[in-house]
Amino acid sequence: MLDDGRGAGTARRVSVEQRDVINAPRDVFGSFETGSAQETRDLGERLGGLLRARDVVLLFGELGAGKTVFAKGIASGVGIAVEQVTSPSFTLMNVHEGRVRMTHLDLYRIETFAQAEQAGLLDVFNTDAIVVVEWPEKIVDVCRARARVEVRIYVVGPNERRILISEI
Ligand SMILES: Nc1ncnc2c1ncn2[C@@H]1O[C@H](COP(=O)(O)OP(=O)(O)OP(=O)(O)O)[C@@H](O)[C@H]1O
Ligand SMILES: [Mg+2]
Repeated sequence: MLDDGRGAGTARRVSVEQRDVINAPRDVFGSFETGSAQETRDLGERLGGLLRARDVVLLFGELGAGKTVFAKGIASGVGIAVEQVTSPSFTLMNVHEGRVRMTHLDLYRIETFAQAEQAGLLDVFNTDAIVVVEWPEKIVDVCRARARVEVRIYVVGPNERRILISEI
């Protein structure tokens, strides 16, 4: 197992968090530091490789934190060509076919839970897709029945990010 403090790619793991919801090796959960977008993508790819149908990943972080970069990594781990993955900030939802379908939501422009519902964006939680959500703050309670991973990305320098990955 990758228990040498280098949890994924060249991201350096700085602490470990252990819980037992998702069926994934423990070393993907914890606190990481990345020094480039590529490292963040590699970390996302490692998580993506472990995801199964109906898993949900919530991506928290300020504008430009790296949520879409991380989502591209997840997609790659799910077997989706990374060039296909663009930010859903305008489309709100993009659907990709990999070894499992992956639905990528961006709720930045959604003001309320009701709006998300009316736009049909919550129907994805009734499908077998892996769901990856940027700006999930408005809908965190929707997907309680599913195994969920929460990713929090903090900007700590121009190219440095602190990334917390946990099960909720
Ligand atoms: N360590 C890093 N990890 C991720 N991105 C990084 C890193 N260092 C620099 N960057 C840059 O930060 C930007 C992150 O952009 P990205 O679109 O992924 O952010 P976002 O969180 O999705 O923003 P938004 O809220 O607008 O959707 C990219 O330009 C990327 O190259
Ligand atoms: Mg984005």
